[in-house]
Amino acid sequence: MTLFSEIDSKKLPNHVSIIMDGNGRWAKILGKKRTFGHQKGIETVKKIIEESIKLEIKYLTLFAFSKENWERPNYEVKMIMKLLASSVIKYKKTLMENDVKLNTIGDLNDLPLDSKLAIEKVKQLTNKNKKLTLTIALSYSARWEISNAIKKIVSEFDQKKFNAKNINEKLVNNYLCTNNLPYPDLLIRTGGEKRISNFLLWQLAYAELYFCETNWPEFGKNDFYQAILEYQKRERRFGKVN
Ligand code: IPE
Ligand code: IPE
Ligand code: MG
Repeated sequence: MTLFSEIDSKKLPNHVSIIMDGNGRWAKILGKKRTFGHQKGIETVKKIIEESIKLEIKYLTLFAFSKENWERPNYEVKMIMKLLASSVIKYKKTLMENDVKLNTIGDLNDLPLDSKLAIEKVKQLTNKNKKLTLTIALSYSARWEISNAIKKIVSEFDQKKFNAKNINEKLVNNYLCTNNLPYPDLLIRTGGEKRISNFLLWQLAYAELYFCETNWPEFGKNDFYQAILEYQKRERRFGKVN
């Protein structure tokens, strides 16, 4: 029995974002290296993309690697970079067949060149796909994104492209990595931690937050449905009175 039939297809979140956490701890429980957890985590990514397509969710954004994650041991970082590139290549056909557009946020220039090129190639290949926009946050952190946005805004202001009085929420949003995406409706974090860890700080302002104990490699379709069912029970007020 799955919870799929309980989901109200008329009340789906348009944009689901996920902090995929707990790979290392999951592997440790099994007495394996952290990298084993990342490998298993890719299988969960595949599963959740499939479920998102099935549910007809339009936007799925996954936090895969933060700016801060570069401070991890070298062997782990190297392995994650390799895994990202090989997975993107491995699944490019599936992305095409399922009309999935691959998008990224973050600084791809931080990545090893071969990983960067592999990802850019698949982004280009899937660019016209429409069913699901899959955004992977790679070398992304919200404070970096916001600082960058300020830098660009100030520079264009200096070039007299706009007046200070024109700076508003819409303008700021145009300078973020997510300017082509709607704000997330739901944020899921696996792995038991109850924090945002520098993810989409601006964009999550009115997202519904859902934290679960399950580590990412074990996060299954029923866990995903559970998060969506919980979202469907929430009353979103956006500061107003319903
Ligand atoms: C999430 O799992 C994946 C990345 C941050 C790359 P972790 O690697 O953070 O796993 P834990 O949180 O240490 O268990
Ligand atoms: C957040 O997880 C980043 C990703 C899932 C890519 P972390 O494991 O880096 O976050 P902290 O260190 O627990 O806050
Ligand atoms: Mg973690």
